[in-house]
Amino acid sequence: MEKREKKGTSRRELILLGSAFGLMGLAAAGTGGALFKYMFPVVSYGTPKKFLVPMEDLPDIGDELIFEDQKVILRRQSETEVAAISLVCTHLGCTVNRVETGFQCPCHGSQYDSDGIVVGGPAPRTLPWLEVKRVPGNQIEIDSGTSLPENSFFAVV
Ligand code: FES
Repeated sequence: MEKREKKGTSRRELILLGSAFGLMGLAAAGTGGALFKYMFPVVSYGTPKKFLVPMEDLPDIGDELIFEDQKVILRRQSETEVAAISLVCTHLGCTVNRVETGFQCPCHGSQYDSDGIVVGGPAPRTLPWLEVKRVPGNQIEIDSGTSLPENSFFAVV
């Protein structure tokens, strides 16, 4: 009996080879796509961190003014000094409400005194005090992206 000698590449080998190249192509495409996405990230611009307040809108001495959109409360300490406190709860980021005793978070019940110091609930830290500075145009700039210790007052006059 004569044994047939195999010539060239069999159909099975061709299918395996094609599959291997196909998988390598998919891996290369996936890597290239991830690299392309890394090089051109989708940037989302949120609410600006800094905002301006005209000097004539400052609260009276001993009074406060709430900026709901920016989640900030501005406190007028004296004729010349103001302070801004973030209203973003340090637990999971809900907006705290101003209450008679300080601040109260409606989400999980954290309580802060009137300086933003935690007095109850799961909040881990004091409400951040924010940087305030006088800028040209007879206005002040509040930077809600800052996080200063309590009692950070700024001279604006
Ligand atoms: S987010 Fe304020 S207590 Fe949880």
